[in-house]
Amino acid sequence: MTTRIMGTGSCLPQTVVTNDDLAKIMDTSDEWIRTRTGIRERRLAKEETTSFMCCEAALRALEDAGMSGEEIELIIVGTLTGDYVTPSTACEVQAKIGAKRAVAFDVNAACSGFLFALHIAHAYLQAGIYQNALILGAETLSKIMDWSDRSTCVLFGDGAGAAVLKRDERGVLSFDMGCDGAKGHVLSCKGRPNNNPLVSHPTEPEFVHMDGQEVYKFAVGRVPKSIQSVLAQSGMDAGDISWFVLHQANIRILQSVAKRLGVSEEKFPISLDHCGNISAASVPILLDEMNQKGMLKRGDKIVLSGFGGGLSWGSVLLEW
Ligand code: COA
Repeated sequence: MTTRIMGTGSCLPQTVVTNDDLAKIMDTSDEWIRTRTGIRERRLAKEETTSFMCCEAALRALEDAGMSGEEIELIIVGTLTGDYVTPSTACEVQAKIGAKRAVAFDVNAACSGFLFALHIAHAYLQAGIYQNALILGAETLSKIMDWSDRSTCVLFGDGAGAAVLKRDERGVLSFDMGCDGAKGHVLSCKGRPNNNPLVSHPTEPEFVHMDGQEVYKFAVGRVPKSIQSVLAQSGMDAGDISWFVLHQANIRILQSVAKRLGVSEEKFPISLDHCGNISAASVPILLDEMNQKGMLKRGDKIVLSGFGGGLSWGSVLLEW
């Protein structure tokens, strides 16, 4: 027995912000952003919260799977931008979708969050502890961006994606997961400083800091190795794979990974052009868009791969 994806769903905020819109409020241009990243526009949240987008995505995934919230036994949300420090986003989802039986918690693995949620859920399902799970990747990254730092804020967007999992005879074939905490500083966002009566710190809000070139080098070096590892574990080569569904950070990263694997770029579907980088939400949103378009056929071999803050990475090879 393994773990199969039974349904997908996603939710983006209403408001579209184009590169030209950003050029009106900072020193940038559509040409700079598009040629360096492939991003044309992104959605930014106004009223939408991380938990709201999660619930919408979850309900759509449940409908796609033909299941109800009451049946779900486990909920894991990959996020670093929940509405609260506590309760977790997963507990908010549990309440709103009526998943009364479910155990619910969040994981923070940044842009690899959906892959880490899938890996954890797979372990629970394989152990026979739960029969099904709802996993999500969701972010409101716009609230932790420094909107005066043009080299970072233009890259990111907001949204949520979800998948319903079940124990099944086909599905997940192999995983490759990893972290390199020693390099975590190249993509970071500090939490609240200690502010107890023994210490006094200014409580300025903290924003995302990124060394773009170091992150780029990490991604183009690590991701092909991670994908080669899941292929080798399953005795397959890149030619056996129908789709490589990668975290949507930058079109140049996708092109470089395709080249290193010797695979046509056409096998690397894209949502970053209209979504930007939505960290943990990128992979499930793209997967849902492909599912809605009928691009995923039963029996297709698919690789999902996430990478980013931590530094962290995770890849899975699965049969649809
Ligand atoms: N608009 C216009 N100019 C900008 C700009 C913007 N939004 N952001 C930076 N620039 C300028 C810089 O100030 C610099 O100007 P200078 O040469 O006069 O000093 C110039 O563009 C080049 O900046 P640089 O940072 O060297 O650009 P780059 O070619 O490395 O591209 C990234 C920057 C961020 C697009 C690229 O490094 C990247 O994609 N990295 C990976 C990031 C990523 O994917 N992170 C998430 C992973 S989960």
